[in-house]
Amino acid sequence: MKEKIEQILHEVKDFQAESKEALEEFRIKYLSKKGVIPALFTDFKTVAPELRKEMGMMLNELKNAVTAKVEEQLERFETQNTSDAGFDMTMPAGEMRGSRHPLSVVRRDINEIFEHLGFTIAEGPEIEDDYHVFTALNFALDHPARDMQDTFFIEKDPNENKPTDVLLRTHTSSVQVRAMEKKQPPIRIIAPGRVFRNEAISARAHCIFHQIEGLYIDENVSFADLKQTLYHFVQEFFGEGTKVRFRPSYFPFTETSAEMDISCNICGGAGCNICKHTGWVEILGCGMCDPNILIASGIDPEKYTGFAFGMGVERIAMLKYGINDLRLFFENDLKFLEQFELS
Ligand code: DAH
Repeated sequence: MKEKIEQILHEVKDFQAESKEALEEFRIKYLSKKGVIPALFTDFKTVAPELRKEMGMMLNELKNAVTAKVEEQLERFETQNTSDAGFDMTMPAGEMRGSRHPLSVVRRDINEIFEHLGFTIAEGPEIEDDYHVFTALNFALDHPARDMQDTFFIEKDPNENKPTDVLLRTHTSSVQVRAMEKKQPPIRIIAPGRVFRNEAISARAHCIFHQIEGLYIDENVSFADLKQTLYHFVQEFFGEGTKVRFRPSYFPFTETSAEMDISCNICGGAGCNICKHTGWVEILGCGMCDPNILIASGIDPEKYTGFAFGMGVERIAMLKYGINDLRLFFENDLKFLEQFELS
């Protein structure tokens, strides 16, 4: 009997169940009423008294080993099951591709259209100074945009508690100034980038958003060139047949200034919530460069003329995809993001 128990103990210790079913078979084989261990306990009754103590201890050891093995293997299957549920190792890898952020898609498409027209991409700093954001662009000293309510100043003067010169740019028009400082005309740039305004966050406004600025300066650039360039952009981006209209407006750095509307691409001009039932939506500001800003950057306004425009990338993306809440762009909700173009 001793050898028999030792042999079974060996078998039990080596046992590895390949499945839950195999483990159950193992349990039945050893522990069920008609199993190996109860049978050994029956045989135990016939063991000679002088061997009883030793045999009894061995039998108990065997029974404990089988019970421990069953529990240990069961636990292994259970932890395996939870990881199976969360992560399927057999799934094909290609199925879970990421998608591009809608703002990246829109910015890329806009850039491409202007690049085909000969514009190059320019960059400027996000942390700017008053001169490049306001003064060089002809903003009067008391212009409301210079107010701390609208602009994030980086530091305050510790003594006077007044804003210093360092601020987060409120528009990408500052890159116009940097481009003009660097180079004499012809200048033909677009400047995509982040801008910052001290606004409460809502469905229609955010303190961080994206703009694309455009600037074209050369001899004989006219308002007709401005109109044709922007008309071409709209046909390419929103589709042929999209109508445009220009309304007179005011910006400190352009004269003449205008805002451009397109026929609402959500309702096709029939009237909906997005276009407030007018059939038109505003998409950008533009105008002919004010001679003062050319002079400020060392460009001769007698020789050169130019046009500029600026648009909000979020706004264009909202119109393109029919999105009605600006905050969606910044929340990184996968259900939202997965709807856009795969990378
Ligand atoms: N910088 C203006 C803004 O943030 C947008 C703009 C308007 C840019 C007219 C221009 C322009 O270049 O000509 O609202």
